[in-house]
Amino acid sequence: MPSVKDILMSMEYGPAPESAAEVQKWLAARGAFGHFIGGAFTAPGQTFATTNPATGEDLAQVTQGTEADIAAAVAAARKAQPGWAALPGHERAKWLYAIARHVQKRERFLAVLEVLDNGKPIRETRDIDIPLVARHFYHHAGWAELLAEEFPGAAPVGVCGQIIPWNFPLLMLAWKVAPALAAGNCVVLKPAEYTPLTALAFAEICAEIGLPAGVVNIVTGDGETGAALVAAKVDKIAFTGSTEVGRAIRKATAGTAKSLTLELGGKSPFIVCADADLDAAVEGVVDSIWFNQGQVCCAGSRILVAEAVEAAFTRRLTERLAKLRVGDPLDKSVDMGALVHPVQLARVQEMVAAGTAAGARLVQADCALPGKGCFYAPGFLTGVNPANPVADAEIFGPVATLTSFRTPDEAVELANATRYGLAASVWTENVNLAMDLAAKVKAGVVWVNSANIFDAGAAFGGMRESGFGREGGRAGLRDYLRGPEVEEVPEAEATFDTSPVAEAVGQSGGIDRTAKMYVGGKQARPDSGQSYAVTQQGRVLGLAGRGSRKDIRNAVEAAAKAGGWGRATAHNRAQVLYYLGENLSARAAEFAARLVEGGHSPDAAALEVDLSIRRAFYYAAQADKFDGAVTATKTAHVTLQMPEPFGIMGVVCPDAAPLLGLLSLVLPAIAMGNRVVAVPAASRPFSATDLSQVLDCSDVPDGVVNIVTGPKDELAAVLAKHDEVAALWYVGGAEGRRTAEAESTGNLKPVWAMANRDWTGPEGQGRAFLQRATQVKTIWVPYGE
Ligand code: NAI
Repeated sequence: MPSVKDILMSMEYGPAPESAAEVQKWLAARGAFGHFIGGAFTAPGQTFATTNPATGEDLAQVTQGTEADIAAAVAAARKAQPGWAALPGHERAKWLYAIARHVQKRERFLAVLEVLDNGKPIRETRDIDIPLVARHFYHHAGWAELLAEEFPGAAPVGVCGQIIPWNFPLLMLAWKVAPALAAGNCVVLKPAEYTPLTALAFAEICAEIGLPAGVVNIVTGDGETGAALVAAKVDKIAFTGSTEVGRAIRKATAGTAKSLTLELGGKSPFIVCADADLDAAVEGVVDSIWFNQGQVCCAGSRILVAEAVEAAFTRRLTERLAKLRVGDPLDKSVDMGALVHPVQLARVQEMVAAGTAAGARLVQADCALPGKGCFYAPGFLTGVNPANPVADAEIFGPVATLTSFRTPDEAVELANATRYGLAASVWTENVNLAMDLAAKVKAGVVWVNSANIFDAGAAFGGMRESGFGREGGRAGLRDYLRGPEVEEVPEAEATFDTSPVAEAVGQSGGIDRTAKMYVGGKQARPDSGQSYAVTQQGRVLGLAGRGSRKDIRNAVEAAAKAGGWGRATAHNRAQVLYYLGENLSARAAEFAARLVEGGHSPDAAALEVDLSIRRAFYYAAQADKFDGAVTATKTAHVTLQMPEPFGIMGVVCPDAAPLLGLLSLVLPAIAMGNRVVAVPAASRPFSATDLSQVLDCSDVPDGVVNIVTGPKDELAAVLAKHDEVAALWYVGGAEGRRTAEAESTGNLKPVWAMANRDWTGPEGQGRAFLQRATQVKTIWVPYGE
């Protein structure tokens, strides 16, 4: 007779299905859904079916949103906007609490509905998705309460268009709707076409609690409906989805003054060091790439394992893989359910086939899959060479790649060898190494000895082609606020012409007065050898180099070599900035004279120079004080939210304040550890070119500030397109702002395109510049045995 122990070892799981009866009843009662506009459901229009990917059965009919539907929803939101924004924070907080409480009351219902529509296992919707939805509304109710105190002078952005994907349908809704409402915005949300049902159930909650009409509007439909929302008269677009659609949205919103946040794809590294707790790391893979069928933007889809433990790790991973249970997602003991849709299943199958055709070996769970539905056996690919299509492309299914590395430096190199930068997971028992890797990996979120942990208080979002903007916590809320309002100040008369001129024009008394550009700490002539005449009321003041694409490229190369600046201590950077202020002060009269020569009155010139010196002192002071935070999230976790420099920034300066405008942009950028390629005022470039001598004698390392003179908008477009320029600030006219944004779709850099402002006033300086010069990296560090 077998012993109890033997029985326990060999015992099969019995079925433990969650009942779907209540949800089925709800679906049967509804039948077909219209949109939720202005506080009520519209009659269904032209509908399409949303299906259960685990069975292939139709669940309900939902309406394909038209342009007119979007317009109606935006109008409803617009109508509700002033009233909602005017409510005291405490009143908005009460509404958000009410939503949170109603979500909690319906947790089981929403968890089951999400399973039916998406295919993910009930274990995940019940224990992760829906509790996090409630947490988001509670957390943001708190922000509504504290808004006036914590963000003085800030105002809501206005009507927000929000487009979400199908992988975490209700959770993505919560990530978008909760901060928007807390900040006083009204929303029009478009759920993904595969998974609209929990959003519609959420709309019922809004109606049930009596949320003021028009504050939340939900329009269902596909990508065309999404595109109509992007084109509609909204003040902001918040998008989560594929990088390809993200690019299209960036292009479509360029120059429209719509604020934009993009949370896009990823190919996140999962780094297992030689001293890692291998069993824990194997569980980490389960929570990472085999969570939600691998349809997770931040999934650790690239396992990088130290060569010394590769064999042991791979063996344990293979053993664990065999124990995963794939099947009916309503079964409480199932680990993996169905992929979202036959289209996604086919995409994953094709990607994996392309990977194996290119030489990779697939290690796949030998599990029995249900006879119908979008099921796919989880696995991982080994032998993936860098040219293999799966090395860089998102599979967005339950299949990781596994590659080995020799040294931690090599791990960092491999980790960063991707165009994405969403998340990373780092496994080591050595805290020094963990933090070193966390700092060096280019990712918006880093989990130390953990994976896929989320909390409403912790910023989530990407770098590079993973998009920009944050969701969650203070940084996430900031993306739904604007202001204090900045008044537009007309730009200086553009009394210049950057057509090339003969060098001789600039010669006075045999001295060549062609101001040099400044690249890599050296005076540089333009690559074209061409100059342009800088004139003031018809008088030629001198010549400046006519910079071109090649000069920008050289400047970016020089900036790339100055990476040590970002690693210098904030104290060191502060000292350099103080020194710069002092040296500028020593030459104040000379700089003032330059401004007078360019048309400033003596008083205005003196003020501009004085404020420039003060600005250097201000940002020197801020260099070691603009901090991140340690946020209370989950028990036994320290969650760090650290402002990190972008790396190389492009800065395109106003003409109106040739010295102060330039320094107002360059100083905060370098104070935070960025290196800068600056395009100074084309009409008055000499303040900037003179500055090179001050930079030289102030110990600013070579390559930290580079100055390329020439046609502003042409050079701005080159900076916008350059893949190594990680962020761009542009000050100028509407057309220039549009071009800067439109040309940035290559590496999807954040572009801060602004009209000219009063650089002498409070708007010319402050924390807003430091915030824009950094991106938050969230690092999760668990503790305890
Ligand atoms: P998608 O990016 O096309 O869809 C996401 C959302 O955008 C949906 O609501 C969709 O209706 C909407 N949309 C589509 N085209 C649009 C347009 N032109 N303008 C405005 N909205 C538009 O993603 P899809 O096709 O569902 O999945 C394709 C791939 O994208 C996946 O295989 C995966 O690699 C990636 N993906 C990444 C996600 C993430 O969380 N980062 C989420 C979903 C997909």
